Amino acid sequence: MTDAPWWRDAVCYQVYVRSFADADGDGLGDLAGVRSRLPYLAGLGVDAVWLTPFYRSPQRDHGYDVADHRDVDGLFGTLADFDAMLGTAHELGLRVIIDIVPNHTSDDHAWFQEALAAGPGSAARDRYLFRNGRGRGGSLPPNNWRSVFGGPAWTRLPEGSDREWYLHLFDSTQPDLNWRNGEVVGEFESILRFWLDRGVDGFRIDVAHGLFKAAGLPDGTSRGLVTAFWNQPEVHHVYRRWHRVLAEYDGDRMAIAEAWAPDAEAMAQYIRRDELQQAFNFRWLEAAWSAAAFRRVIEETFAAVDPVGASPTWVLSNHDVVREVTRYGGGRQGLERSKAATLTMLAMPGSAYLYQGTELGLPQVDVPEEARQDPTWLRGGGTGRDGCRIPLPWSGSEPPYGFGPGAGVKTWLPLPASWAELSVAAQETDPASTLSFLRRALASRRRVLAGLGQQVRLPRGSPGVLVIEREPGFTCVLNCGSRSHRLGAYGDLLIASAHEDQVAGGVLPPDTAAWFTRPSAVPANLLSARLGRRTVNAHEKGGGPTDVFSTDL
Ligand code: NOJ
Repeated sequence: MTDAPWWRDAVCYQVYVRSFADADGDGLGDLAGVRSRLPYLAGLGVDAVWLTPFYRSPQRDHGYDVADHRDVDGLFGTLADFDAMLGTAHELGLRVIIDIVPNHTSDDHAWFQEALAAGPGSAARDRYLFRNGRGRGGSLPPNNWRSVFGGPAWTRLPEGSDREWYLHLFDSTQPDLNWRNGEVVGEFESILRFWLDRGVDGFRIDVAHGLFKAAGLPDGTSRGLVTAFWNQPEVHHVYRRWHRVLAEYDGDRMAIAEAWAPDAEAMAQYIRRDELQQAFNFRWLEAAWSAAAFRRVIEETFAAVDPVGASPTWVLSNHDVVREVTRYGGGRQGLERSKAATLTMLAMPGSAYLYQGTELGLPQVDVPEEARQDPTWLRGGGTGRDGCRIPLPWSGSEPPYGFGPGAGVKTWLPLPASWAELSVAAQETDPASTLSFLRRALASRRRVLAGLGQQVRLPRGSPGVLVIEREPGFTCVLNCGSRSHRLGAYGDLLIASAHEDQVAGGVLPPDTAAWFTRPSAVPANLLSARLGRRTVNAHEKGGGPTDVFSTDL
């Protein structure tokens, strides 16, 4: 247990850099802003932070269109600001994971500009996926692939040039790289080393499942389209090489794949022993509010990661999806469900990823059309992701709530006029706030869960109720049903996501989760936590078969 790598049970906080904290007052978050708020994150009780891209970029996809992987964009600061931020994080005991974007570059990247200038058949073009069009005069795209952001996945070079087409699975300003080209392979290993040498603890790999496209770039059928460009077997050779690069460095450096795999088994392929350390497990995020659905997620996750000897990760939200408060119904109910789901996720063995603002209970925002900036919205590929990317409210009674220095700064996305009560300052001093709850949850997790085994048992009980047990003597109960649940004799109440008095009295209201531990299983100092020593002595309900999953590394 003690020689487990730091990331195995880490709680990692995702910083969406544009929207976290603004030090220079231009309405956009930056690295100095991140640095200034690191004590807040250390105080929250997370182990690591993941920063979204801050590299030089024209910002067509908010940094996921990288023009120079070895430099910081002026919007976010300088390399010196990065080093200072990293140094402060390490002093505070926080690990830092940075985003790496290997599937595509920006069209402003020197390589793409070179490719345009060099013409068809050149070595420079071979770093990307240029092809002739089909039909008369090559006026039709080379195949029928569609961009994830909406519209065709191909763009033709302008009139007057040689008129080849290039592939972009995302925006037309994000040309896909050709991973069958050795120079591309070598370049990214060199980029990894550049940041590892600076001291980063790990990488989040953007579109990790997309680097290779089926040979010959065949048309897809309506069912088979995605299989032509996601999760190709060749991608695993790249991650075996990256594993070896990471292993050259001390300190358990790691990488986590953003791989939207069709099922848990396909996800687990990325975390075989000689590949990456972690992959985001998006199953819970995709599941409806239901004990049965959550149970299935947990079962499938362990069934997939156990055979490859990996540990699981858990994710409820990120900068690409609707915030969980809103997903779970919005308002008070959405907030209570979000807190309950978060507490349940934090009870699991493995690593949990929290998106900034979860600790404040932020809802999705309906951004006015004229303020929207997300390319998925601009390309007609969806409702847009701006609503989960609103700058964080830090303090004060009106927008931008201390997001940056000075009042009246226009933030890159507007903050709602109703967020005064959600600010960090407003919640910090309120013991009943979402922020205080999450701090307590993370403190309890650190003290209790660290001593627990890596196995979970899911005893079958009342419908609508999920029970998770870990040895020695830890139980998490989540009530997704519409009626209160009479609790079993689980021991001392450690923390509840809400309604602590009722829970202490043996009743778990709907949309609530709670952690219990048997007195013999925890050090005495733990029981003097804020809730005191309140033992639940109600009758055990349910019973029946129990499933056991192990994630021992
Ligand atoms: C996934 C990132 O999370 C998302 O924000 C981005 O738009 C796409 N990859 C393309 O890089």
